[in-house]
Amino acid sequence: MSIRDRRLQYETAGLDIGDLHPDPIVQFNKWYEQAEEAKVAEPNAMTLSTIGLDGMPDSRIVLARGVDANGFIFYTNYNSAKSQQLQQKPLASAVFAWLDLHRQVRLRGSVHAASDQQSDEYFASRPRESQIGAWASPQSTALIDRAALDALMAEASRRFEAQQIPRPPFWGGWCIVPDSIEFWQGRPNRLHDRFSYRRVAQNWSITRLSP
Ligand SMILES: Cc1cc2nc3c(=O)[nH]c(=O)nc-3n(C[C@H](O)[C@H](O)[C@H](O)COP(=O)(O)O)c2cc1C
Repeated sequence: MSIRDRRLQYETAGLDIGDLHPDPIVQFNKWYEQAEEAKVAEPNAMTLSTIGLDGMPDSRIVLARGVDANGFIFYTNYNSAKSQQLQQKPLASAVFAWLDLHRQVRLRGSVHAASDQQSDEYFASRPRESQIGAWASPQSTALIDRAALDALMAEASRRFEAQQIPRPPFWGGWCIVPDSIEFWQGRPNRLHDRFSYRRVAQNWSITRLSP
């Protein structure tokens, strides 16, 4: 079937204001659990958009590693393109696509670096090979070939042989503090349900949006 003609009817029960928790983080975690139960692939994957150094938007997938009242946390290399962009403009948007459930959650907000303690704790929980990989990969920089990356990996493995691996100073978390979060539920005939939460002082307002 051509891309143009591909059409899926979203026969879901829908979403009404009464179904929503007043706190969007609680609502997010409820949907996240349902995505896990439905065995959605990588339910914590989110497409992260940042503002490029040249002003162009830039997007890529990262894995959310914590979602609570403080925000949405992901981990990365602090010298990477995305981190340089966030250092220059600490603003981001992110989208979770749980397509098997016909659901999307998008959020926008300001971004700050996670605390050293939080990054240390998360780094310590990673498998050893991933820890070595964090040291080895100068993320977002040009490589001559795969062998160059393998050589960096071998060098990092030798350096930390039989030792506990500390968190690289150039690796850690970023936390997106949302000021808006939208929940989207697919419905028949493209008449989807959309609810947008906006931060108003210490609370959240909720508005139904036209699909
Ligand atoms: C499913 C998936 C999960 C990913 N998770 C992460 C992640 O948590 N952290 C990360 O730095 N890159 C992650 N990546 C790789 C990024 O998409 C991206 O290639 C990398 O971070 C470099 O991006 P940048 O050059 O814009 O900084 C993931 C990619 C995919 C497809």
